[in-house]
Formats: sequence, C-alpha cells, structure tokens
Amino acid sequence: MEIVIVPDSTAMGELAAGAVADLLAGKPDALIGVATGSSPLPVYAALTRLVGSGSLDVSRARICQLDEYIGLPAGHPESYRAVLEREVLRPLGLPAGAFIGADGTAADLPRACADYEQALKTAGGVDLQLLGIGSDGHIGFNEPCSSFGSRTRVKTLTAQTRADNARFFDSPDEVPRHVITQGIATISEARHLVLVASGEAKAEAVALAVEGPLAAVVPASALQLHPHVSVIIDEAAASNLKLAGYFRATYDTKPSWQGL
Ligand code: F6R
Repeated sequence: MEIVIVPDSTAMGELAAGAVADLLAGKPDALIGVATGSSPLPVYAALTRLVGSGSLDVSRARICQLDEYIGLPAGHPESYRAVLEREVLRPLGLPAGAFIGADGTAADLPRACADYEQALKTAGGVDLQLLGIGSDGHIGFNEPCSSFGSRTRVKTLTAQTRADNARFFDSPDEVPRHVITQGIATISEARHLVLVASGEAKAEAVALAVEGPLAAVVPASALQLHPHVSVIIDEAAASNLKLAGYFRATYDTKPSWQGL
C-alpha cells in the first residue's frame, strides 16, 4: 500500500487522473471502476482537463460503477447511473455503451447483483478501481462489519451514511435505505485500487483503514490485503496518520521510473 499525501484536493485529483491516464496509455480499452460522492470529483475534473487539452484519449475506455441506490425511479438525477453519466461519461465524451452498471430498479435484486458480478467478469475484470471512503470506513457501500469475503449484494445503509448523503437530496428522508454494492472481495479483484480522500472529516477513517488492524468494522482496512493500492489524500485527511512523515519521505524519494 502506497500512501501519498498531497497539499489539496486538486493535487489529489491530478495524481489519481495521472494513474488512469498511464493505464489507458498502455491499455486503451481498460475498465475503470468509478465511485460517486464528492471525493472523486477532482479526479473527474482532472481527467476532463486532460481530454480537453488533447493529452488523453479515453475514446475506448470502459466505465463501471461501484454501487447503486435501490428504490429510486429509473433516471432519478441522484441514481448513481445518472450521476456518473453527468460527472464522468458526458464530460469525457463517452457513449452510454461504455458504461457497465448494476440495476437498482430490478424486481429481482439478488439476480441483478449476480448479473452485475457476471458482467464484470465478462468484461475482463476491473483494471483500476477508484474508491472514496465513508466517514464510517466504508468502501463502496460496504458498511461496518461487511465480510471481507463479500460479493455484490444488497446492503442497508447506516444512519450515518444516510445523513452524510442527505446533502444530495431535498430531504434526509429521501435518501434510500438500501443499495446494491460490489462486495469487498469483488472490489479486491480490481488490479489496482486507488483510494482518494480529502478533508478532516475523513482523517479518522483513513487512519483506521491504513494504520489500524484488519477489522470488518473498518471495511476499508481490507485494502491492506491487496497487492496494489494507492491511497491519495490531502493534508487534512492525513492529519491522524502516525506514519505521515515516513509516507512523505517515501514518496519524495521515490524513483522517477516508478508510477503509482
Ligand atoms: C459511493 C461510494 C462511497 C463514497 C463514500 C464517500 O459510490 O463508493 O463509498 O465514496 O461514501 O463519499 P464522499 O466522497 O461523498 O465523502
């Protein structure tokens, strides 16, 4: 696990976008797993700038989602499919066909989960998965005490996550209680995990995930078991790390031939 501490969320976005660009340079049709919420927005903005300046070609890239709300009508502006169309596909000029997603409107939800697992396999697996982290340590919507062996399934959001996400809805009651989320084992099959976090509200969760013990109660601690993880965080999100000095020195003296 590599922890990179950057000055602010713009630098965070640029570094993570650089990892996506490097991947696409070698594999133009790579499958990029994307997260929703506020944390990855600077990454999407940086990618959009790279595409706009002509230095990145994403025309063959494929995009897949991490999670999806259940119970929102199809086309609801806060369904994660709609959010990702707005924040990722359209700004990058990607067609709807480039998107692989889970159907949160399905009548048969266990079937929709199994279908999504199969779709990811058929697509050859996720090359790079971008992740945010919940203030309770969740990744995707794997809430505390999710099994490290979990696959895509229906989960119930904690009250804290519903409160955290209420800002996207007209009222807190509108935040769905249930979601489809890739499981921790599903996420862990991605070849490269890139977690981004900014702001002091994430400092405790980041420290527990990175420096704490492996524990289902901190789902993001499962990242410690993955062979290729980049944690890109701003100073505020890094403020609880005991080893911050070591992480800074390591990155500052990193050989230039080594990417993320
Ligand atoms: C959503 C997702 C979640 C968010 C997390 C942080 O697709 O994967 O794990 O990344 O809830 O959300 P923000 O970035 O809004 O703080």
